[in-house]
Amino acid sequence: MIDTPFTFTLPLPQVIPSRVDNHIERRLSALRGQFLDEESFIKMLSSEDKLIYEVYEIQRPQLDGELIMGISIVHPGKVGKEFFMTKGHFHTILETSEIYYCLRGEGYMVMETPEGEASVEALSPGNVLYVPPRWAHRSVCTARQEDLVTFFAYPANAGHDYGTIEQQGFRKLVMDGSDSPEIVDNPRWTKSR
Ligand code: F6R
Ligand code: ZN
Repeated sequence: MIDTPFTFTLPLPQVIPSRVDNHIERRLSALRGQFLDEESFIKMLSSEDKLIYEVYEIQRPQLDGELIMGISIVHPGKVGKEFFMTKGHFHTILETSEIYYCLRGEGYMVMETPEGEASVEALSPGNVLYVPPRWAHRSVCTARQEDLVTFFAYPANAGHDYGTIEQQGFRKLVMDGSDSPEIVDNPRWTKSR
């Protein structure tokens, strides 16, 4: 682990950092139970466990005061009418925030708090999104052919609580409407805690 200042680049067009410690790949099977259209999910999975998104991380010690940075890439596609998305999570330490900077593509960040607030913010190149403490977050790619690529940075000790979202889902879903994406209430949302 380097403990002196360092730089890295995000070379276009792929935007994969010049320095990477961790490459995470998440496939369709990792999102079981999250897409509304279960029949389409099962059908799609039976033909291929498709790569849905990838994360390239620059690791740091998981300590207060450190930041973890990286690139998140959500590939284009849909399960039924619902766009490909990340699993989404609360931070284990709820009082930690995150910053996202959109570099390529089109999409949304779907967010909510344990207190019941919900927010869906559009992402396009140049947008900076601040996810305040307590807000669970999930990125959704809505472009037909292009990846949604975001740079992120968050406190290295934040941790990830995936279980709450796995159980209750997000309150809002991003679906393919007749000519543009539609944000709809999730009819299956249930409070888990
Ligand atoms: C880290 C963070 C992002 C996501 C990435 C993948 O706190 O929010 O780096 O980890 O976009 O999404 P998840 O972690 O939900 O699989
Ligand atoms: Zn996060």
